[in-house]
Amino acid sequence: MNYLLEGNAAVVGLQWGDEGKGKIVDYLAENAEVVARYCGGANAGHSVRINGVKYATHLLPVGIFRPNVVNCIGNGVVLDPAVLFHEIDEFLKLGVPISPANLKVSYKAHLVMPHHMQEDAARENKAGAGGIGTTKRGIGPTYADKMQRTTAIRVADLLHEDKLKSRVERIVVDRNKQLAAMYDSPPIDWKATYGLYRDYGRRIAPFVDDVGQILIDAARERKRILFEGAHAALLDVDHGTYPYVTSSSCSALGIFSGCGVPPAIVRNYIGIMKAYSTRVGGGPFPTEQDNDTGNYIRERGNEYGTTTRRPRRCGWFDAVAVKYSVALQGITAIAITLLDVLSGLDHLQICTGYRVNGQRVDLFRADMDVLEDAQPIYETLPGWRGNITTCRRFEELPREAQQYVKRLETLVGAPIKIVSVGPDRSATIMR
Ligand code: GDP
Ligand code: IMO
Ligand code: MG
Repeated sequence: MNYLLEGNAAVVGLQWGDEGKGKIVDYLAENAEVVARYCGGANAGHSVRINGVKYATHLLPVGIFRPNVVNCIGNGVVLDPAVLFHEIDEFLKLGVPISPANLKVSYKAHLVMPHHMQEDAARENKAGAGGIGTTKRGIGPTYADKMQRTTAIRVADLLHEDKLKSRVERIVVDRNKQLAAMYDSPPIDWKATYGLYRDYGRRIAPFVDDVGQILIDAARERKRILFEGAHAALLDVDHGTYPYVTSSSCSALGIFSGCGVPPAIVRNYIGIMKAYSTRVGGGPFPTEQDNDTGNYIRERGNEYGTTTRRPRRCGWFDAVAVKYSVALQGITAIAITLLDVLSGLDHLQICTGYRVNGQRVDLFRADMDVLEDAQPIYETLPGWRGNITTCRRFEELPREAQQYVKRLETLVGAPIKIVSVGPDRSATIMR
C-alpha cells in the first residue's frame, strides 16, 4: 500500500496545468478505492500511458483505468454530456469497463450547453490577441450561469423532462437574443437542444448519484479516496494569475465545495510539478524561454496541449511561483515529473526571485501588473547527459539530476517523494 494514500490524498497542480497529474493519479490509484474529480470540465486533458498505450481523459477520472476503483464526478465539475459519452464510448471500444458500478455523477453538477460553447468561442474570437486563450469548451460561461442561478441547468434537471423542456426554451431563446446582439451569433434551435439533452438525460440517469454522500460514507468506512485535481493553483479563479485563469476553484481549496466533503477527509496533499514550466494560452510567464531552450523542451517533452493540441509555452522552473502554490495548498509531498526532458542541457536555470521596479521580490504576487514587470533572478545548476527514463531508484540518477531535485525541494518548501522519468506508469521513482 502506498503510504501517501493513508488518510486519503489529493493530487493537485503546482504550476499552470499539464504537470502530469493524470500520470500520478493513475500511479497512486493502484491502491485507491475511490477517485473523484472536483473542478473544471473538458478543458482538462489528463494523459496516462499504460504498457506503451496512451489514453487521455477530459471528464472521466483517471481511476477509470483501475478495475476496482469507483470514480466520482463531483458537483464542482461542469459536465459536457457529449464529451462524457464520447469518452465512455471510445474507452469501451478499447476494453476499459465503464458502468454505473464504477462511475458516479453528481446530480448537482452543472451542464455545459451549446450556447456556452458558442459564447466562449465568440468572446475569444472577438477579443483576438486580447483574449484569455481559453480552450473554447464553454467553461467560463457555464460557471457564470451557475453563479447567475436562473440561467443554469444541472444534471438533476435532466431527470425531469417536462420541466427541462420549458427551462431549455426560456434560457436558449433569451441567450440567442444576447449572443446575436453582442456577437452576431446565429440562433441555436431550442427544440433540438432540448431533444439532445433529454436523450443525454435518459442515458446518464443510471450514473447519477449523491457523490458527496458516497464520499463521506467511503471515508467513514476507511476506504482510500484520491481527489484528482484538474488545472492548477496558478489557474485558480481566486488565487491564480487572474484574469488569465480558468473559471473554477481548481486549487486544493476547491476540493471540499467541489465534492461536498469536509476538509478533514483529506490528510495528504500531493503537489505535481514539472521539472520546468509551461503554460497554454495568454497570461504572464516570467521564466518563459521563447528561444532555442524553449523549443528544445517543447520537442523533448512533447509540449502540445492534450485538449487543443496548441503548442505550450515553455520556460525555466519558477521556484517563486511554486513556493506560493505549495503554501496555498498545504502541500505535504511533491511529485516532480518530466525530469527526463531536461537531459542534454549544459546547465539549468531556476528562478529564485524577481526584480520588480528595481527591487528584489521573493514572494509571488498573483497580480498581472506586478508579474508583467517581473524580471526573473536565476540560479544556475549543471545539467546532465544520457537517458534517465530507465532509472527506478533515486540513486541511479546522474549526480547533477539528484542535485537539481534536492535544490528544488529546498526552494519550494516541501519534500519531493515521487520522481517521474517518463510517461509510462512504470517510469516512476518513489523516494
Ligand atoms: P495533466 O493535465 O497534469 O494530467 O498533464 P497532461 O497529461 O496534460 O500532460 C503531461 C504530459 O507529459 C503527458 O503527455 C504525459 O504522458 C507526459 N508525462 C507525464 N510524466 C512524464 C515524465 O515523467 N516524462 C515524460 N517524458 N513525459 C511525461
Ligand atoms: P489540465 O487539467 C493547461 C487554461 C487555458 C486558458 C485558461 C482558460 O490538463 O492541467 P478555459 O477553457 O479553462 O476557460 O481556459 O486556462 N487551461 C489549462 N491549461 N492545462 C489545463 O488543464 C487547463 N485548463 C485550462 O489554456 O489559458
Ligand atoms: Mg493536461
